[in-house]
Amino acid sequence: MELKNVILEKEGNIAIVTINRPKALNALNSETLKELDIIVDELENDESIYAVVLTGAGEKAFVAGADITEMKDLTTIEGRKFSVLGNKVFRRIENLEKPVIAAIHGFALGGGCELAMACDIRIATEKAKFAQPEVGLGITPGFGGTQRLARHVGLGIAKEMIFTGRMMKSDEALRIGLINKIVEVEKLMEEAKAMANLIASNAPIAVTLSKVAINRGMQCDIDTALMYEAEAFGQCFSTEDQKEGMSAFVEKRDKNFQNK
Ligand code: CAA
Repeated sequence: MELKNVILEKEGNIAIVTINRPKALNALNSETLKELDIIVDELENDESIYAVVLTGAGEKAFVAGADITEMKDLTTIEGRKFSVLGNKVFRRIENLEKPVIAAIHGFALGGGCELAMACDIRIATEKAKFAQPEVGLGITPGFGGTQRLARHVGLGIAKEMIFTGRMMKSDEALRIGLINKIVEVEKLMEEAKAMANLIASNAPIAVTLSKVAINRGMQCDIDTALMYEAEAFGQCFSTEDQKEGMSAFVEKRDKNFQNK
């Protein structure tokens, strides 16, 4: 199927996904969300891809939010459906069994900030800007913002961001833990890809099991969470890559992981 609004590129063991509606600052309409859903299918099924970089096309924005033009005249049921669609796709990204790095330049607003939060790691340029401006449009955040933001930055700051809708620069986003690191504009993709390749150089099954254990553990009590960890740890010993990684260490040679 020909995709209009999302580009998928593969470079060795990493994939680069680009939201490509620069004229609308990559605003997420339902067509784009559905295309993103198709891309997640592809990423899920491609065993050669070990890590993903997600970014926005053009100079100005990562994603400037859900598409306001499309939302303007929605009915109650249509509004609910739009939120369910966005939440479904973002949850699939969050649960994708390979790390996803958001490479953020320019605006990451509303649905754009929410998309970044559904990724595992966020790298941003010094000129990136973050906000949950929905209440200024008469709506609540609808693609996970009322739930994920507090989990990322704590209740007080999440409430302040959502109630005020104020725009936040990268340095503040870094300070509150919304993003992992700030890089120069020209180095954004280089740095994001370097991190993705570093992840891809490790044992893919161990990376996947780590992601699953972290995500599951964040949603439950510590004893259940540590059980998930022990399960993940145990499962690694059934992989060839565990034998390879430890043998390479003992034999003082380079490792050669096979994703097995
Ligand atoms: N939806 C639809 N179109 C959008 C958009 C959005 N979220 N954001 C920007 N655009 C469009 C503009 O309408 C404009 O289109 P035209 O050229 O056809 O007029 C184009 O992108 C360029 O935008 P601007 O001319 O406004 O650019 P600017 O540099 O003057 O301002 C901006 C940039 C501050 C990001 C401004 O565009 C803006 O405030 N955008 C809306 C941001 C926002 O409120 N996002 C939250 C949406 S609600 C949401 O996301 C709900 C949810 O949680 C699910």
